[in-house]
Amino acid sequence: MSETQGDAEPATRAFLKTLRADASRRFWAGGRFAFFHAWGKLGGDPIFRELLRRGLLPSGARLLDLGCGQGCLFAWLLAAQSLSERGQWLPDWPPAPSFQYLRGVELLPRDVERAAATFGGHPLVQVEQGDMTQVDIGSVDAVTILDALHYVDHAAQERLLQRIRAALPPGGLFLTRVGDASAGWSFRMSNWVDRAVTLARSHQPPHLFCRSLGEWQALLTGLGFEVDTEPMSEGKTFANVMLVCRAPA
Ligand SMILES: C[S@@+](CC[C@H](N)C(=O)[O-])C[C@H]1O[C@@H](n2cnc3c(N)ncnc32)[C@H](O)[C@@H]1O
Repeated sequence: MSETQGDAEPATRAFLKTLRADASRRFWAGGRFAFFHAWGKLGGDPIFRELLRRGLLPSGARLLDLGCGQGCLFAWLLAAQSLSERGQWLPDWPPAPSFQYLRGVELLPRDVERAAATFGGHPLVQVEQGDMTQVDIGSVDAVTILDALHYVDHAAQERLLQRIRAALPPGGLFLTRVGDASAGWSFRMSNWVDRAVTLARSHQPPHLFCRSLGEWQALLTGLGFEVDTEPMSEGKTFANVMLVCRAPA
């Protein structure tokens, strides 16, 4: 059951406010756009909170985030870790995860530049410019792709997911969020927003390669993942679904 930020207890709301501020502050180094983008995203998108509240990311993990943008996820996780180290963690939440490294791959050079300005020199973080369908996945314990899989065509999605499955150790985690193409008007709404944002960001006519939730589940279970699904568009009229996929232990 998801707990909306509006419904959350005052202590949880105060904690999330601090976490958002700490994570976003890091992006001042990348400029005003980087800061306000992070501020909006980390305050308005439930997936960041839910990753921590549900304790989905394994501790001590080597994490790869494909299509990582400017690295909002990494800033969030680092801020969580440092709040936890300062003893400011919610007692009813699982412990904050720590990481061996946080590696991101992003196609757009401008996002990579913002990430470099933000995290440059951080011992745990590396964000590189590249195409997620081409990069070496390397040794990983967890892979995330948040709202980015539908930018590559269906055959490339399948090859990439196969490579992720092969790279993960038993018990390893693949976590993604996709739009459910069978969800009617709410999917059409999110698809329209996606097209507009893609056009504005990359100045390329957008080609999006979507699937129904059933098709995503069939593809991932066919690759040998155990798959849990959870709606993840709280507060928005979108048809986003989080897929928590585990390589069997
Ligand atoms: C909607 S944004 C999500 C960014 C990030 N995952 C987040 O949640 O903040 C999708 C990102 O995927 C990136 N992307 C699209 N195709 C890609 C590819 N083939 N390889 C790497 N990144 C890609 C886009 O440039 C964009 O930054």
